[in-house]
Amino acid sequence: MSKFHLRSPDRLLACGALVIGLMHGAPGAAQQSYPTKTITVIVPAAPGGPTETVARVLLPAMGKALNGQLVVENLGGAGGTIGAGRAARAAGDGYTLYLYHIGHATFPALYRKLAFDPIADFEPVGRIVDAPMSVVGKRTLGPDNFNDLVSWVKASGKNASMANAGIGSASNLCGLLLSQMFQTEVTPIPYKGTGPAMNDLLGGQVDFMCDQTSNTAGHVRAGKIKIFAVTTRSRVPTLPNVPTLEELGLKNFELSAWHALWAAKGTPKPIVEQLSKALQVAINDATVVQRFNDLATAPIRNEDATPGALQAWLKAEIDRWGPIIRATGQFAD
Ligand code: MLT
Repeated sequence: MSKFHLRSPDRLLACGALVIGLMHGAPGAAQQSYPTKTITVIVPAAPGGPTETVARVLLPAMGKALNGQLVVENLGGAGGTIGAGRAARAAGDGYTLYLYHIGHATFPALYRKLAFDPIADFEPVGRIVDAPMSVVGKRTLGPDNFNDLVSWVKASGKNASMANAGIGSASNLCGLLLSQMFQTEVTPIPYKGTGPAMNDLLGGQVDFMCDQTSNTAGHVRAGKIKIFAVTTRSRVPTLPNVPTLEELGLKNFELSAWHALWAAKGTPKPIVEQLSKALQVAINDATVVQRFNDLATAPIRNEDATPGALQAWLKAEIDRWGPIIRATGQFAD
């Protein structure tokens, strides 16, 4: 007899434990109805950028809460409209999600023709995090403070290059607002995301951009790029020496790239609710909180990580940005 052979009472106990395990849905034996396969999360921007960063921080914790796996699919281009369009056409079975940001609210004002309706063609799950934006420049750029940057841009005009992630991106929105303020046209350089845009800023091929702190703060701390200002109403706690645009005299220049999660249209309500609950668990996970804090982003409250709160927020943001964007005269076909 093997020394590991169970004696009879132990055998009975083990059998009992197995039955109880099955009844209570123990790992490996559970008959869970959702998710039963991998969930794809469309990130409508190139790899290595701030939207993907939010996804990479959040999704492992959401997967844990759902007892499932979520994988990122990067579908960058056209300011996020390519990925958003794909998500809008996906089957509403809970296996295609879409993670984007404030850009989702600016699409209707920026595009004359949009292949989807940002409200009607998605099932809202909830908001995730707010990412402050920052005006940053290549390390070798002449100006060292925001006022000097403004003078330099005015003097340089079209010779100044400003990166963005295409019409509909957060960097495009911020750049539009800044250009209005500079009262001069600079040369916009569009990328499929600010991941590749940041590579060019680090390499000195582009002069400056306005991008989320989740993509800039690390490079600023490492002294690889210059930072001139943040776009939030108050200073970003993890970048305490950086002035806000409001402090610099730009009244009401407040811009934060809120991120949110949607499911494909028609996803059953119980699944959307399950996703929203998993989102709430994830945004309170200690590792997620720490990582978002390191990225200089601001956490959101549980009550904002719900379908109803996201839908109301999205409608309000579409109404807020529509007239501001239309006043700039920029739109795409
Ligand atoms: C990205 O992840 O690249 C962002 O979407 C960039 C942006 O919107 O500016």
